[in-house]
Amino acid sequence: MSTVLEIQNVSVSYGKVPALKNISLQVNQGEIVALLGVNGAGKSTTLRTISGLIRPKCGSIHYNGEPIHKRNAHEIVKKGLIHVPEGRRVFSTMTVEENLQLGSYCARDHLHDGLKEVYELFPRLFDRRKQLSGTLSGGEQQMLAMGRAMMGKPKLLLLDEPSMGLAPIIVRTIFDTIKKINETGTTILLVEQNARAALRLTKRAYVMELGEIVREDETENLIQDKVIEKIYLGG
Ligand SMILES: Nc1ncnc2c1ncn2[C@@H]1O[C@H](COP(=O)(O)OP(=O)(O)OP(=O)(O)O)[C@@H](O)[C@H]1O
Ligand SMILES: [Mg+2]
Repeated sequence: MSTVLEIQNVSVSYGKVPALKNISLQVNQGEIVALLGVNGAGKSTTLRTISGLIRPKCGSIHYNGEPIHKRNAHEIVKKGLIHVPEGRRVFSTMTVEENLQLGSYCARDHLHDGLKEVYELFPRLFDRRKQLSGTLSGGEQQMLAMGRAMMGKPKLLLLDEPSMGLAPIIVRTIFDTIKKINETGTTILLVEQNARAALRLTKRAYVMELGEIVREDETENLIQDKVIEKIYLGG
């Protein structure tokens, strides 16, 4: 199994405040790996560091064997490493389809096939393709944020809390789609507070606490050890 993403001993600080302390993690081709932890643990910081929005203070990040920790975000996205940030930032004064078109900016040859693919994944977006994105429901905006990422032909997708604030039925749709996206060959690193749902999708997960990775294990072991109850319910 080849390694798509390899983080080695990365530390990050915001000013003088440390946010990531010497973290290492690895994602292999074809996997969905979950990154779990309570609020403030450093999950989003980890994703932002991978996608080049934050420079690590030390350590290295390799993507398909190539060092990327000194690259800028726009260079990294062109390589098919695409980040769907927390809080799904869609361009609200543009239509659904215009947002999707923007997503193919780094993969222009993919515009036509990309739209077809995204509308197959999310038929709801096809129905609403002419609607201004700011008027979409939260669930639809999440679909759009993920659809826009798919327009860039991701090889590795970083998803930051895709189910945040959504009703259970929409959460199910989003998780089913994440599974489908993975089955068609995209490797995924998934940050989720909805840990039970995330673990159902994954075979392996990392647990973060106060900027450190405190555990890496097969999902089954984490469930058996009641790690989820411990981290999210303090039990
Ligand atoms: N731009 C910033 N400037 C200063 N500190 C920050 C900044 N962004 C995050 N932090 C701090 O870094 C730590 C990690 O934050 P991060 O957003 O990575 O956590 P998280 O695990 O994603 O949390 P959540 O589950 O609430 O999204 C927190 O203590 C947070 O206050
Ligand atoms: Mg976060």
